[in-house]
Amino acid sequence: MAKYPPLSNCRKVSKESIKMRKVYISLLLSALTYGTPTFAQAEKVVKRNYAELANYDESKVPAYQLPDVLLCQDGSRVTNVKEWEQKRRPEILNLFTTYMFGKVPEAPQLNYTLQAIKSNALGGKATRKEITIYLTEEKEKGPHIDLQIYLPNQVEGKVPVFLGISFLPNYTVYDDPDLFVPETYAKPNGTTGKAPARGSMNRSWQLDQILAHGYGLATFCYNDVTPDYDDNFQRGILPYYYRKGQNYPDPDQWGAIAAWAWGMSRAMDYLEEDPQVDADKVAVIGHSRLGKAAVWAGASDPRFALVLSGNSGCCGVALSRRCYGETVEAINVRFPHWFCGNYKQFNNREEYMPFDQHELVALIAPRPIYIASASEDNWSDQKGEFLGGKGAEPVYALYGKKGIGTDEWPPIDTPYIDGTIAYHNRKGPHAILPYDWEMFLKFADKYFKDDSQ
Ligand code: GCU
Repeated sequence: MAKYPPLSNCRKVSKESIKMRKVYISLLLSALTYGTPTFAQAEKVVKRNYAELANYDESKVPAYQLPDVLLCQDGSRVTNVKEWEQKRRPEILNLFTTYMFGKVPEAPQLNYTLQAIKSNALGGKATRKEITIYLTEEKEKGPHIDLQIYLPNQVEGKVPVFLGISFLPNYTVYDDPDLFVPETYAKPNGTTGKAPARGSMNRSWQLDQILAHGYGLATFCYNDVTPDYDDNFQRGILPYYYRKGQNYPDPDQWGAIAAWAWGMSRAMDYLEEDPQVDADKVAVIGHSRLGKAAVWAGASDPRFALVLSGNSGCCGVALSRRCYGETVEAINVRFPHWFCGNYKQFNNREEYMPFDQHELVALIAPRPIYIASASEDNWSDQKGEFLGGKGAEPVYALYGKKGIGTDEWPPIDTPYIDGTIAYHNRKGPHAILPYDWEMFLKFADKYFKDDSQ
């Protein structure tokens, strides 16, 4: 399968990796002089250096050639939807699964408990449900998703829903006085901390706007599925699916990003059963590392009707071969638990990857995707995110669907939302903000309210 040379034959030594080696050596020397630095100190140095070393100069983007999204491994070319769906799409899906995100286990039998339902939540405008979805046979003793759903009461019948994966627990989504806030909470880094305030993430979720549009919002915290630190894959969901005697994932088995995406699919298993939810109209959304997870969820699980990528950047929708902002090496070194073992061989060897991120977007075709960048977020490579969407256009064209609608990277605050691939570069920081939601809702209206699309 591997078409690229083995690591030993072609290791390129970039300035960046030389500098990183210097960082490690200086850490080692300071360890010998002052005692061992803590992991956190080491992380900080590595983080700072990767951020400082990243290229932000467009003229230094290397010349690259993207893999041809329509060219099959046997050299034949896709010319229609049937060939795409039966031949090339499965090839690309297999490449991303094997070399980047890792294989996930079969879905377990759906097993959940409706913990609470309140039909007059938020002063009567919404119905709130709290559901526990068990991810293993161990039921509540194993990892489980606490799914919180708000549905608009002004709409009769089944409603479309945004399914969001969140950095923080459900009580941060809205300042809903009914929600219990504990003193402390389990942080994704494995420690316990003071619980964040109720409704503290309200701005990123825009529940009022979502409900006013006649949509529901379902959320769960990513830490429910698997934690977000390098613990050698000993906590969270992975160990529950190890074979007998296995204690570490195989090189082609899931890392945390695939586990979070898998969690979104388990939430979808439930949504399909909920009589108040229109399961044919479920959008997935996530920001940043959770944007990567949401895009992979949308790419690997065709039940998601629409995908919203919030600043998903490197290993999300931004082209890796541009090496602009965060790079494959930077992400693998800082977050070794995110992707599968096989992916590490592409550190600083982007040109040997058997895919690039435009093909991740292509896996979503013909379903709509909105790619949101932010002007201050160079680390995520806003232009690379735009080009990730552009590169998927030949596949959307097979279905007669329009892509972004411009060949030029659009200026700040100039959304392109007429095509099936939408894009904007909002002014401001790395975040999902009210402006993003305003555009997401407009875009969703085209597909969830106008059945002709
Ligand atoms: C880091 C990481 C990014 C990620 C981001 C986030 O900056 O390098 O890849 O998207 O964290 O999740 O906020």
